[in-house]
Amino acid sequence: MGYGLRPLELQDVPQVAEIEKEAFPTLWPPTPFRRDLHNRLARYLVAWEVPGSQAQNPAPALSTLASPFWRRLFRNERAGFREPAAQTPPQHLVGYEGIWFMVDEAHITAVGVRESQRGRGIGELLIIGAVEMAYLQRSRVVTLEVRVSNHVAQSLYRKYGFKEEGVRKGYYVDNNEDALIMTTSAINTPDYRESFQALLRAHEERRGSSQRILGS
Ligand SMILES: CC(C)(COP(=O)(O)OP(=O)(O)OC[C@H]1O[C@@H](n2cnc3c(N)ncnc32)[C@H](O)[C@@H]1OP(=O)(O)O)[C@@H](O)C(=O)NCCC(=O)NCCS
Repeated sequence: MGYGLRPLELQDVPQVAEIEKEAFPTLWPPTPFRRDLHNRLARYLVAWEVPGSQAQNPAPALSTLASPFWRRLFRNERAGFREPAAQTPPQHLVGYEGIWFMVDEAHITAVGVRESQRGRGIGELLIIGAVEMAYLQRSRVVTLEVRVSNHVAQSLYRKYGFKEEGVRKGYYVDNNEDALIMTTSAINTPDYRESFQALLRAHEERRGSSQRILGS
């Protein structure tokens, strides 16, 4: 597939802030990602391009690598010479999501994918990661708010069993738009587990397998 998931790290903050700006241009103030790294309730996952899967993920053009040092290093890697891991260029991030764990709910606060990378299964991979994290945290359900006009995101959430539970009137301050509250059924039931496993298999068959590191 060429994409992986892992927890947000400090060095990712500039890239994630950039993706947030692109995915949620009217959001103000921006999410305090740096501060949230110390927030015990909040978790962020980032989606990154796994190097070497050439079909969907060409290596970054040398011209996009800022300093001559990085250019030299990247050439060496292409030639098969491996520098110590600490010196490798930062991973190219393509999406992120935020999840708050409260009582028995996993609350997805945002899912965003770079515009140029949409339609490749990354949003779906992020939802898979959220549900898997919810299992790890023993959450009962996964829930979120979404703009009533955001049919693309709603379609993604419906695919993973989120159903409309209610409306928050005027939830979005930029245009006073309503939010749909969408929530899964209990994720620990055999029914949900079975349909989630089927979706996971279908995603892997269609997009290839993914590396998913979810943290604790
Ligand atoms: C919503 C978003 C995260 C989807 O990410 P994505 O990587 O493009 O989505 P995927 O390729 O994984 O598609 C997964 C599902 O989403 C839905 N979807 C994706 N693109 C769609 C489109 N253009 N039209 C309708 N449904 C679409 C489909 O249900 C799709 O499943 P399918 O491939 O079986 O049809 C992305 O469009 C985005 O970042 N949008 C801006 C930010 C946003 O609105 N976030 C959600 C609100 S919190």
